[in-house]
Amino acid sequence: MADGIRFFELNTGAKIPSVGFGTGQADPGLVGEAIATAIKVGYRHIDCAKLYGNEKEIGYALKKLFKDGVVKREDLWITSKLWCTDHEPEDVPKALDKTLQDLQLDYLDLYLIHWPVSMKKGSVDFKPENLTQPDIPSTWKAMEALYDSGKARAIGVSNFSAKKLGDLLEVARVPPAVNQVECHPSWQQPKLHAFCKSKGVHLSAYSPLGSPGSWSIKREVLKNPILITVAEKLGKTPAQVALRWGLEMGHSVLPKSINETRIKENFDVFDWSIHEDLLAKFSEIEQERLIKGTPYFVHETFGAYKTLEELWDGDL
Ligand code: A2P
Repeated sequence: MADGIRFFELNTGAKIPSVGFGTGQADPGLVGEAIATAIKVGYRHIDCAKLYGNEKEIGYALKKLFKDGVVKREDLWITSKLWCTDHEPEDVPKALDKTLQDLQLDYLDLYLIHWPVSMKKGSVDFKPENLTQPDIPSTWKAMEALYDSGKARAIGVSNFSAKKLGDLLEVARVPPAVNQVECHPSWQQPKLHAFCKSKGVHLSAYSPLGSPGSWSIKREVLKNPILITVAEKLGKTPAQVALRWGLEMGHSVLPKSINETRIKENFDVFDWSIHEDLLAKFSEIEQERLIKGTPYFVHETFGAYKTLEELWDGDL
């Protein structure tokens, strides 16, 4: 039986729409139109971040959509992320205020620590000498204050290994609601998924299509023969199968597109399902982390992580 899987319930009791619209590749100039298209298609979840440099334009687009009566604020789920330069406790509320100002909103549905990596306040480029030592418990305390204030209705993390998430859970007064990580059929994250599930933390999948076209990524996730075979059997595209697989695993998925046909295609994943015998085939897909955080976040002299092993706690 096909199951819609339209929402997942978080540990706050809130329901996060299962398919979100990723804005990470959409440059200013393109993102506003893409958001308007996505919302008209039916997306109700927008995944933003300060890093993407397009929150102002998203704010204009949202304001117009609200004004034109296309959608109401309360019917949308909006996530944004605290960038690595803003981890000092006094900078955390300022960073959220700036994001809210740019997005022209009073509150976020979810605010995430973007990476377990800290950088010098005010630094704008990815030079290794800008890396500093993160103090996640202090940053998290400031995130908890935002949750208390109601400006962030849920708080969470992104790119956290099971070890780093476990360490945070040990000290958190408000447990993270979400860990947003790379997740797709070629990087399925079963151990992290099981850990998150056991702790009541929802796993949200970025790059759910394997980010085809990204300059740094060689593996073509959507060209995997198993994915193609399953897609042919179901009469769906490999992208739809990758997204539906994520939903059936219990992850929300955040595909990015600036193309209207693909924006629609990626939302057409609710009224069908992948039968168990086909789902079982996914375990045969070769696994590889595609977004490793190098060369930016790992350095032998600067920052907290000398090796990839340290950044991901061996989960490579
Ligand atoms: P485009 O914007 O031209 O559609 P991810 O979400 O995994 O990071 O992947 C984003 C990339 O995938 C973008 O380059 C996007 O290009 C492309 N893409 C999005 N939807 C599809 C789809 N349905 N089929 C193939 N490629 C897609």
